[in-house]
Amino acid sequence: MNKYHKPAELYDGLRLHQNENTGVCSPKVLDALRSLRADQIGFYPPYESTTTVCAEYLGVAPDRLSLLNGLDEGIMATAVGYLRPTAGGGPAEAVVPEPAFEIFAFDTEVVGGRPVRVAPNPDFSFPLERVLEAITANTRVVFLTNPNNPTGMAMPNEAIRAVARAVPAEAVVFVDEAYAEFSGVTFIPELAAFPNVLVGRTFSKAFGLAGLRIGAITGAPGALEPIRLAVPVYSVNIAATVAVEAALRDRDYLNGYLRQVEESKSLLYAACDRLGLTYCRSAANFVLVCAGDRLNAIVNGAAARGIYLRDRSGEPGCGGCLRIATGVVEHTRRCIDVMEDILCAAR
Ligand SMILES: Cc1ncc(COP(=O)(O)O)c(C=O)c1O
Repeated sequence: MNKYHKPAELYDGLRLHQNENTGVCSPKVLDALRSLRADQIGFYPPYESTTTVCAEYLGVAPDRLSLLNGLDEGIMATAVGYLRPTAGGGPAEAVVPEPAFEIFAFDTEVVGGRPVRVAPNPDFSFPLERVLEAITANTRVVFLTNPNNPTGMAMPNEAIRAVARAVPAEAVVFVDEAYAEFSGVTFIPELAAFPNVLVGRTFSKAFGLAGLRIGAITGAPGALEPIRLAVPVYSVNIAATVAVEAALRDRDYLNGYLRQVEESKSLLYAACDRLGLTYCRSAANFVLVCAGDRLNAIVNGAAARGIYLRDRSGEPGCGGCLRIATGVVEHTRRCIDVMEDILCAAR
């Protein structure tokens, strides 16, 4: 079984390697956390109010949404709920178009399922035909990510519809929308017409709540049921519920961050053009940069100056590539300065 390589615990510099919001959370979240009462901490948490607030934000009915201890929990619960051995006794299959968030294949293997990896197109466009070919009678989950991590590339909703029409009756299509706030594109309005599609969301990225661990999954109640059974009854803690409600009330803070992400991406694209580095145009809050044989110099040189970037060169199709979070403009400028220093010194 493949081992998941959790990123090293690097908290002493600028963290541009895990796609977090380095502007961190809204000050209103901190106010809400400070006003937590002792009785709220002493008792098991209620979920009704937070479920309603999150459902309103996503435009769905509350009975179509489950809170999660981070979207990671939703991915594991999907694997547990859907990837049991098939009636024939063989392993259930999860189709994973690559490059993908590593957790999909990892969780699939943890529960005894078989990841069916689909190789990327050279330009990282969605390989629809090959994804359809990878679906078999044993497919129980297709993991899609829109926009994708690590490429930042968006996929067309038409491709999601095509996959949903092609899977066996027992299967679900899991659309990971961890970065949907940045693309502004979601499959959620189509869920009523596609009861075999589930959409996962997180409050770790755009809302800056990664340390509190909260996400949500939405879809038809029947498709959600196996996931609900797999999620521990009180998996989301009271601090996370209070925080997400406060974060969702502070849309100015969210919009300010989204504007910075756009500006940061433009700055980084321009810097890459100057430095002769290629990159994928991203619909998310990070950019995959292809540095070729300059990869180690950039990643190691930036780390030595306290800026952490993520080497993604081991991912399918990503030879020579690194991923850089593009959020707070001042942080992006610091990163660009360091990249320019490193590459100019190497000339
Ligand atoms: C595609 C994707 N899905 C899910 C997650 C995990 O989200 P969470 O922090 O809510 O567990 C990440 C985090 O990097 C991600 O990139």
